[in-house]
Amino acid sequence: MIDRDMPSHHGVTAPPGEGPYPNETMGLLLKRASCRSFTEDDIPTDVLQLVLEAGARAATGGNLQPTSIIQIKDPAMKEWLARKCEQAFIGKAPVLLVFCIDWWRLKRWAELEVAPFSATQSFRHFWISFQDTMICAQNVCTAADAMGLGSVYIGTILEFFAELRERLDLPQGVFPVVLLCLGYPRQKPQPRKKLGVDAIVHSERYHKMEDQELLDAFEAKYPGHVVQVTEQRLVEIAETCREVHGQAFARRCLQRIEETGRISPVQRYFGLHYRASEMPRGNEDYVRHIQECGFHWFEKWSPALDGEGE
Ligand SMILES: Cc1cc2nc3c(=O)[nH]c(=O)nc-3n(C[C@H](O)[C@H](O)[C@H](O)COP(=O)(O)O)c2cc1C
Repeated sequence: MIDRDMPSHHGVTAPPGEGPYPNETMGLLLKRASCRSFTEDDIPTDVLQLVLEAGARAATGGNLQPTSIIQIKDPAMKEWLARKCEQAFIGKAPVLLVFCIDWWRLKRWAELEVAPFSATQSFRHFWISFQDTMICAQNVCTAADAMGLGSVYIGTILEFFAELRERLDLPQGVFPVVLLCLGYPRQKPQPRKKLGVDAIVHSERYHKMEDQELLDAFEAKYPGHVVQVTEQRLVEIAETCREVHGQAFARRCLQRIEETGRISPVQRYFGLHYRASEMPRGNEDYVRHIQECGFHWFEKWSPALDGEGE
């Protein structure tokens, strides 16, 4: 059930820092924020081209570039994606980009040049190509920001991978990772509060935070982020707890809510939004999907020695 009175799971906005920044790039990076509201202005071709060039120039393992970007401008397709993702603003962005891991192109190159190829059977290659694809996407985001555009990633395409693959004609070896909405912002989005450098950077080795230090760090990230306690929310959170950890844990969770008088952001995240009882469901479907895309790295590999390859 959609609970519209709940504060956003995207977190708490923070006033953008005032600088001064040592240069424009640092200002852009330190003030960045996702944008979910776009004007109707199209993105001029030369601007889009430049932004995509920044993606093509991203770092990539071995300089292999196992990434493709599908540009979507067709209103019907944008509407379809907005509906499937259940996020209406997606349909209003002038350009959508689907970033895909792409081993099809490299495989075909290998075939044409008679080179050996096993990348789609290799976890190593998959892992690095996932990173390559996200790094390319992030270069595009930063370039978009620099050109006065706004952007937001959309991860929910994973809920309809198979249909998306079909709609986009993705061949074997191509795997859709993330969608990016691009357009001119209706208003400058406000940056969200984040854990600070103190919390996320460790010196030389991992340093486990003390409990109070950890609670304080999250409290500073979500100041005043109070989810009101309602009967419905208590029922839902208790149900999630029961399903995942049993009755005694559900009682402890409700007791904690009673003691503190609030549903804390982490109880909200995993008890009500990204429900701990739902998120691991369908794992096997995702594995099957990866397989259907032509990847077999989770299976034991044995070489095809018939001389012809696949
Ligand atoms: C992989 C990924 C998937 C995301 N999916 C969505 C999404 O489906 N819908 C959405 O509105 N925002 C989505 N976001 C944006 C995050 O919600 C956003 O980055 C986060 O709330 C922090 O806000 P900020 O980007 O303004 O700092 C996604 C971000 C990432 C990196």
